[in-house]
Amino acid sequence: MSEPAFTELSDYAEKLIRGRHATRAFRPDPVPEETVRAVFSLAGSAPSNSNAQPWRVEVVGGARRERLAHALQAAHAEQRTSIDFPYSEDMYAPVHHERRAAFGAGLYGALGIGADDHAARAAYDAESLRFYGAPHAAFLFVTGDGGPRLAADVGAYMQTLLLAMAAYGVDSCPQGLLSFYADTVREELGVTGGRLLVGVSFGYADESAPVNRVVTGRAGLGATTAFHS
Ligand SMILES: Cc1cc2nc3c(=O)[nH]c(=O)nc-3n(C[C@H](O)[C@H](O)[C@H](O)COP(=O)(O)O)c2cc1C
Repeated sequence: MSEPAFTELSDYAEKLIRGRHATRAFRPDPVPEETVRAVFSLAGSAPSNSNAQPWRVEVVGGARRERLAHALQAAHAEQRTSIDFPYSEDMYAPVHHERRAAFGAGLYGALGIGADDHAARAAYDAESLRFYGAPHAAFLFVTGDGGPRLAADVGAYMQTLLLAMAAYGVDSCPQGLLSFYADTVREELGVTGGRLLVGVSFGYADESAPVNRVVTGRAGLGATTAFHS
């Protein structure tokens, strides 16, 4: 088989990368096991510093997913959070807050939840611990000392995974919120090492759900990138 011409490959990359988006309502249909394996095998080709590959990935489906969803919702109801990577709103710069506010307005607008309806927003967060109805979820742990450089490698793995899923027609949502219940995930899955960075729910989108039509913009190239010569 000949290599695709560059233009074909770049067209495909444009479609794949720009076409991926977070899905927040899934159909219950499971992804065939061979597709799941192909996707995670492809994701393993992600780059990492010195090729250390400091990720450990736990993939759940079936009855285990059901049990984990219940456990996460119970932990949430009892406010039993356990966070491996500290989180604070203070980490964001003012421009980040502006972008987050624009995203929140789009998301909650699509859900019909008002800006000041904190109870409804909290209820939606709680619901998201059921993986937005996705039949599968993956939990990405950082191994080694779990420091920021290793976490960056696992971030590269995450994006490779999301694109691999998109290439195989599998929809996904990375969910930082799932990492707020790291001990619950560890207990339910019998995980002993690593620090939980993020969870990724995946399956097939419910195309009829308005929340899946939320469009997110991006800062212009000049706002994030400088070219020096
Ligand atoms: C590390 C990370 C954590 C995220 N956490 C959540 C989350 O907890 N819940 C959620 O609904 N979306 C979450 N998202 C999805 C982002 O909101 C989404 O990627 C962003 O708004 C851009 O939209 P897009 O992915 O549709 O392009 C997360 C994304 C990343 C990369």
